[in-house]
Amino acid sequence: MAKKKKIAVIFGTRPDTIKLAPIILELKKRTAHFKVVTIATAQHRQMLDQVLEVFKIKPDHDLNIMEPRQTLATITKNTIEALDGILEMEKPDLVLVQGDTTTTFVGSLAAFFRHIPVGHVEAGLRTNNKAHPFPEEINRRLTSCIADLHFAPTSAARRALLREHVDPRSVFVTGNSVIDALNISVKARYRFSREDLNKIVAMQRRILLITMHRRENLGEPMRGAAMAIRRLASMFPDCEVIFPVHLNPRVREVVYPVLSRIPNVHLVEPMDYSGFVNLMAKSYLILTDSGGVQEEGPALGKPVLVLREVTERPEAVEYGTAKLVGLNEEKIVNTARKLMENSRAYNEMARATNPYGDGRAARRTVGIIIRYFGLSRALVKEFRPGISV
Ligand code: UD1
Ligand code: UDP
Repeated sequence: MAKKKKIAVIFGTRPDTIKLAPIILELKKRTAHFKVVTIATAQHRQMLDQVLEVFKIKPDHDLNIMEPRQTLATITKNTIEALDGILEMEKPDLVLVQGDTTTTFVGSLAAFFRHIPVGHVEAGLRTNNKAHPFPEEINRRLTSCIADLHFAPTSAARRALLREHVDPRSVFVTGNSVIDALNISVKARYRFSREDLNKIVAMQRRILLITMHRRENLGEPMRGAAMAIRRLASMFPDCEVIFPVHLNPRVREVVYPVLSRIPNVHLVEPMDYSGFVNLMAKSYLILTDSGGVQEEGPALGKPVLVLREVTERPEAVEYGTAKLVGLNEEKIVNTARKLMENSRAYNEMARATNPYGDGRAARRTVGIIIRYFGLSRALVKEFRPGISV
């Protein structure tokens, strides 16, 4: 029998860990083929631990690098050397990274320095604007330069890679494992661990769910969006605004002064993943600058107003479930108001669609890795969404 392949999976923040969790679980099922080594940079701490707990993953190595108000340079510096030591010791046959965080780029660079092949999950997302999102657009482009296997979530992502002359034989359309994670976690009957949330949901009022954290929006742009949310809360006193506020102090110092002490605005701590996605399923409207939430909202049939100037996830915008509204206060208020007041406009957006995945991305990704190592010759059928975008 062929020797088992050692796969090192590197993650560090909330979103990359959520999206790698289904793949880690799938790899761990294939004990005949793989030995899995999980490495947390812990670029995030509490928000990472919340995800690890939900998916019951215990990292084999934890670099614990997070610092309050960390800079891109300190994350990079603290991660690269520690990862190098672990990769030298573990000698994996493949490193997997996900998405576009600093952990993603530095993880792939550390593997490259040790001549270890890299698989990039969620490859090929592009805005072609290096300032939006910052620094993620550059992180994912740099990761694409290094990766040997590119797991593109959609065919548009594959096309973007081919335009950059990535070898087509190394690009596979898998769907996004965010939908796998969502399918595992959303339940018809769900009780929140927080009683105040159970009470709000029981009131059966319309819930506006908010998240914001992007580095390029910190300061005045984010304040504009927060002001818009304040106006919407007073315009619609019969709705409840729930805003799990990211732990970045630079986000909190914008959000709390504008949105505290408003009776129907609930500023809460970051929610654990299963609580958050189940709250999303019960929401009326979502306002967010998040990448992952832009993918989950449409799958749940929830209109998403994207608080960004450009998006690397155009599929839901093209389909009509998401709208790019940017950070302009007036534009956010006017667009959200229309959806609150006009049920036809709302129903046109509130259609469930799955352009990002079908819940089988982890299985496809692992199937492709098995084939890459010649452990099986079985072909893996690629993801094709039910709609054309
Ligand atoms: C990072 C990613 C971004 C991703 C986001 C998901 C980079 C450059 N950015 O941005 O792509 O969308 O995560 O949330 O990789 N903090 C805590 N506890 C935590 C997490 C963060 O206290 O569990 C605070 C710390 O003060 C930390 C700060 O938040 O210094 C910022 O964290 P960082 O990872 O640098 O940036 P994010 O904005 O979270
Ligand atoms: N999320 C969560 N708790 C929250 C807010 C978001 O678990 O309080 C999840 C959400 O469901 C999505 C992911 O976090 O899967 C998105 O992470 P984030 O917005 O931090 O990063 P991005 O996707 O923008 O990189």
